[in-house]
Amino acid sequence: MSVLGIPTPGVASLSRTHTSWEDLPLQTRRAVEDLVGQVQSARTISVGRNAQLSCVLRTSQAVLFAKGVPSNHRGVGTQRNEALVGAHLEGISPKVLHHLDTGEWNILLFDHFDGRPADLTQRSPDFRLLEPLLERVLAKDARNIPGVLPVVERWAHLSTNLDFSLLSGSSLIHPDLNRGNILIGKSQSMLVDWALPGQGAAWINLAFFTFFLMNEGWPPAQAESWVNRFRAWKEADPHAIRTFVTALTRRRSEQASSAPQLRRMERLRQERLALEWLQHRTATYSISMTGMPYLLKPNVGTGQSTTTYSDFSELVEAKAPSGKILEAPTD
Ligand SMILES: Nc1ncnc2c1ncn2[C@@H]1O[C@H](COP(=O)(O)OP(=O)(O)O)[C@@H](O)[C@H]1O
Ligand SMILES: [Mg+2]
Repeated sequence: MSVLGIPTPGVASLSRTHTSWEDLPLQTRRAVEDLVGQVQSARTISVGRNAQLSCVLRTSQAVLFAKGVPSNHRGVGTQRNEALVGAHLEGISPKVLHHLDTGEWNILLFDHFDGRPADLTQRSPDFRLLEPLLERVLAKDARNIPGVLPVVERWAHLSTNLDFSLLSGSSLIHPDLNRGNILIGKSQSMLVDWALPGQGAAWINLAFFTFFLMNEGWPPAQAESWVNRFRAWKEADPHAIRTFVTALTRRRSEQASSAPQLRRMERLRQERLALEWLQHRTATYSISMTGMPYLLKPNVGTGQSTTTYSDFSELVEAKAPSGKILEAPTD
């Protein structure tokens, strides 16, 4: 349990129902086999939530990982992203071998990496291999990678009263650092699922990671203290970090309001975690800047409410029924 009494997710929250290799149309399986040789065995991987096909294929020559969506699915765009960015991720992510579209299915084929999803709970030994992986990610420049959009572009509608130029930069960003996307091998770890690569300030990777640590039950102060080992985080402008956390909170709130029934509990939980982080960030920031305790004001600037909340639980209660998110605490 975290400080707000939010339960931590189980493996189930990382998975979805998948199509098996055998259920793919014959034409699609043939097209894959034309590239990699006859498939001798196929095993569906249940971790992962976006790809409809997710399986390990064994041929007489190699072991591969296949990921796919139907050709008319909107996920085709993210498959293309992965193919484009994959060519630039040596030492970070398994190599993309092929990308094909048969008209029925859109399939990516990768080198298989022998690893398991990371354990991100506190004191997990996996952090030993994770740290150098994150260093490699932080060093990646996104400017020569085609198709990578500034990370704030997807959040443009959330920018009211926020200065998003504080988030800009030239680094490659992986926004989905959930433990299923971090594979721990014997002596190395890999980061998969580059479906939504972004460009921005390097520390944004660590900000996303902080949030995923919180998702695994870390209190915000401890999660931030772990990422504080990286220079990119130590040198990041606290105002910029707070801007990120505010935008993330708005985004999680938006997602919680529109989530389908199946994902609603999880989205609400994430919204509360984001609010918890924002509270922590605001307190830290406010005290460091002014020596004064923080105040959170919902709907500042919208004219809807001028109530000031100095107690976080009150804020959560106040906003939960309408699903409307707070305004950023202003400077
Ligand atoms: N190259 C790979 N080798 C081995 N396992 C992989 C590889 N790529 C992904 N996986 C595993 O498959 C799961 C699903 O792949 P991922 O790219 O994350 O798809 P999704 O978009 O469905 O989350 C990952 O969580 C990971 O456990
Ligand atoms: Mg994934």
